Amino acid sequence: MYHKKLKPFPKDFLWGASTSAYQVEGAWNEDGKGPSIQDLKTIPADTSDFKVATDHYHHYKEDVALMAEMGFKTYRFSIAWTRIMPTGDGEVNEKGLAFYSDLIDELIKHDITPLVTVYHFDLPAALEEKGGWKNRATIDAFTRYCEILFKAYGDRVKYWLTINEQNMMILHGAAVLGTGKPDWKDLYQQNHHMMVAQAKVTTACHNLLPDAKIGPAPNIACVYSQTNNPEDVQAAETMAAIRNWLYLDMAVYGEYNALAWAYMEEKGYTPTFEPGDEAILKAAKADFIGFNYYASRTVAASPIDDTASPEAGDQQLAVGEPGVYRGVTNSYLEKTEFGWEIDPAGMRTTANQIYSRYRLPMIITENGLGGIDKLEDGKIHDDYRMDYLSKHIHQVQEAITDGADIFGYCPWSAIDLISTHQGFRKRYGFVYVDRDDFDLKELKRYRKDSFFWYQKVIKTNGEDL
Ligand code: BG6
Repeated sequence: MYHKKLKPFPKDFLWGASTSAYQVEGAWNEDGKGPSIQDLKTIPADTSDFKVATDHYHHYKEDVALMAEMGFKTYRFSIAWTRIMPTGDGEVNEKGLAFYSDLIDELIKHDITPLVTVYHFDLPAALEEKGGWKNRATIDAFTRYCEILFKAYGDRVKYWLTINEQNMMILHGAAVLGTGKPDWKDLYQQNHHMMVAQAKVTTACHNLLPDAKIGPAPNIACVYSQTNNPEDVQAAETMAAIRNWLYLDMAVYGEYNALAWAYMEEKGYTPTFEPGDEAILKAAKADFIGFNYYASRTVAASPIDDTASPEAGDQQLAVGEPGVYRGVTNSYLEKTEFGWEIDPAGMRTTANQIYSRYRLPMIITENGLGGIDKLEDGKIHDDYRMDYLSKHIHQVQEAITDGADIFGYCPWSAIDLISTHQGFRKRYGFVYVDRDDFDLKELKRYRKDSFFWYQKVIKTNGEDL
C-alpha cells in the first residue's frame, strides 16, 4: 500500500498539543484543591513529586501565549477533578472552577479550541480511600463532577474527552498509578465501572450540550505478529482485543468485544453487571475517537508455562501473559533513549484499523518522543524530536490519503512536564521549562528548536515537515 500523491491535510485541521493537569500544573494544594492519588503516591527517591510540576497554574497566560505563537489551533488539557471537587464529590470549589474558566477564556482569546480531558490518572484521594473505582459510588461522583464541567464550560468547550488511557490504567495500573500488584478479577470489575461511568457522562454531555462532541482517549497500538505462524497471529489478535478493541467497542457500540469477553470468561475475570448497566452502556455512543499512539506492539504465542509476566513493563514496554501472548522486541524498529520502540508507519496502520472498525472521526491525542534535552546558551537542539514527529505527521497524512477521517493531531506535550515514570529526566515538550527533578530554579520557559519547526508545520498546514 503506497501513494504517489498524498492528500493535503484538511484546511481546518486541528494542530495542537496535549498536557495533563497533574503533570503540568503544580499548585497541588492551592486555592482549595484537594489531594489526588498522584499527590499521595510513593515517588522513587531519584524523581520529583508532582507538587510544582512546571507550575503551569501560575504561568498559564505565558504558556498559552507560547502555544499561540506556535500557531496552535487546539490545546488538549485535563481538568483536575480535585480542583473542582476537593473530595471528589460534594462541595464545589469555586476557585478551581474559576481557574479553568480563565484558562478556557485565554485559549479562546488566542483562537485556540479547547479540547478537555475530564480525567487523566488523578482520581481524588478521598474517593480512593472509599474504594476508588471498586466502589460504584465513584460512578455517580464522576457523573456529578462531569455535569458540573458541562454546565460551567459547555458554552465554550465543544470537544470533550472522557477518560485518558483507561486501558493502560487497567493493564499497567501498577506502573501508571503505582497501585501495587494487580488483582485481575478486581481490575476488570473496576474497568466495568469506568465503562459505565464513561457511558453515563457521554449521555449527560449529549443531553446537556447537544452541540458538543465527546469521545474516549485510550492508548491504541496496532499489534503485529512476530511471525506468520498462525499461533503467533492469533496471539496478536487476542492482545489487540484485550488492549484496544475492548475499550473502543464499548465506547462506540456499548458492548464488550467478543474476543476480550471470551478471554475474561476463560480467566474468571468477567465483571458483575448491575441491573441497568447494559442499557446505560448501550445508550451511549462516542461522537469521535481520540487515541494516544506512541508505538506499535509485537507479540508471539505464549506457552502456558511461559515466564512472561503481565505485571512487568509500562504503557509501551513488552509484557505478556502466560498462555495468552508474549510481548517481543520488533527487530525492524529503533528505540528511544528510554527503550520505547519508534514506529511511525504503525500509526498509519493503527488509524486505518480504528477507522475501518468504527467509521468515526479521529483525533490523535498523544504521540511524542521522551528524551533527555540539554539547555545550552538558551537553546535546545532537539532534532531527535523533530525527526520523530515529522515521520509521524507524514504517516497521519498517509492515513488521511488512505481515507481515514482524522481531524487533529495533538502530540505530547505542549510544554515540558513531569513524565509518569522518569520525572524531569524525560521531556516531551516544544517548550523547555528550566528546572530539574529537585532544583526548581526559576522555571523559565525556553523555545526548543522543535518549537520553531512545529510553528512552520502548522503555518504550512503540514506541507513543510
Ligand atoms: C501516556 C500518558 O501514557 O504517556 C501520559 O497519557 C504520559 O500521561 C505519556 O506522560 C508518556 O509517558 P511517560 O511515562 O514517558 O510520561
